[in-house]
Amino acid sequence: MSQTFTAMVIDDADGKPLAGFRDISLADLPDNDVLVEISHSSLNYKDGLAITGKGRIARRLPMVAGIDLAGTVVESRSPAWKPGDRVLANGWGMSETEWGAYSRFQRLKPQWLMRLPEAFSMEQAMAIGTAGYTAALCVDALEAWGTIRPGEGDILVTGAAGGVGSTAVALLSSKGYAVTASTGRSETHDYLRGLGASAFLDRAELASEVRPLQKERWSGAVDSVGSTTLANVLAQTVYGGAVAACGLAGGHDLPGTVMPHILRSVALIGVDSVHAPMPKREKAWRTLAQHLDTAKLAAMTEVHPMRDLPELASRIVAGAIRGRVVIEIG
Ligand SMILES: NC(=O)c1ccc[n+]([C@@H]2O[C@H](COP(=O)([O-])OP(=O)(O)OC[C@H]3O[C@@H](n4cnc5c(N)ncnc54)[C@H](OP(=O)(O)O)[C@@H]3O)[C@@H](O)[C@H]2O)c1
Repeated sequence: MSQTFTAMVIDDADGKPLAGFRDISLADLPDNDVLVEISHSSLNYKDGLAITGKGRIARRLPMVAGIDLAGTVVESRSPAWKPGDRVLANGWGMSETEWGAYSRFQRLKPQWLMRLPEAFSMEQAMAIGTAGYTAALCVDALEAWGTIRPGEGDILVTGAAGGVGSTAVALLSSKGYAVTASTGRSETHDYLRGLGASAFLDRAELASEVRPLQKERWSGAVDSVGSTTLANVLAQTVYGGAVAACGLAGGHDLPGTVMPHILRSVALIGVDSVHAPMPKREKAWRTLAQHLDTAKLAAMTEVHPMRDLPELASRIVAGAIRGRVVIEIG
């Protein structure tokens, strides 16, 4: 086993977080029960914020960044896992309070790990990554609410060319829903059509002043943008419809009114991936295994070595990444 290995570490530089590559050893890792050799991780919006320092993600320093991983168990003090098991993990505070995935080895708590679904290689699991798993949590949440049906009405996906958005478009369309993709990048229309979008909405149309009740357009929606966009989506959702909100790429405020909720019974369903309980995670990964077309997954994915992280982080924070980015660790 390598004595030292490279990790992306956020350090304290005069009271400010500063990300950089650093050699660490097994002795530096936290004393958790399962040692995993990480094969792949991915780039998510939160990773972009952590690495660029544009968001205060790490709540203690030094911190190994990276919020998701796929890898192989090397040692385990837990009866739940044994050497050779192929596992994945999303969230659980990695990169915030717990050392994360941009490191060849990491020691993790046994309850954070899931068995890698047989449908996916490690690279594919991280092509899905936290963004894709969150998209599946959103789709599951809308279906559990019970008011959307394939073939009945339109489902809107905002931030459609991003990671959550691309996976949501692909999943919903293969489940038979008519998907409208809202994007600010018209050059991604062919790409989004390839993932299954059947109509498009310029994101500028959702960025204007919010009138409390607008023409009813969407049976349901997956929103990763927040702010004015989410408020307008709620105001355009049909009577009894539901919106699953998971993101803040456009801002964390919500400048709307209660009118869609109290006059049209519109539901706003909040979706968190970081501390989602294990049964919800397992359901989301089952949804992905059953309904995500791996050819579409390949079309939305680029693969990069870990050394590209600083440049990729700037690009995702600028909204300039299309689809998903896998990071090769091993
Ligand atoms: N709740 C959770 O547990 C959870 C989990 C994963 C992600 N998230 C959140 O979900 C969001 C998306 O994550 P991601 O990984 O998909 O990021 P991403 O790949 O960067 O996608 C975000 C997309 O949002 C759109 N966008 C960016 N800036 C915008 C702005 N100022 N106004 C309107 N639209 C804008 C862009 O889509 P177009 O180019 O198509 O317009 C962009 O591609 C982030 O806020 C992330 O933190 C939350």
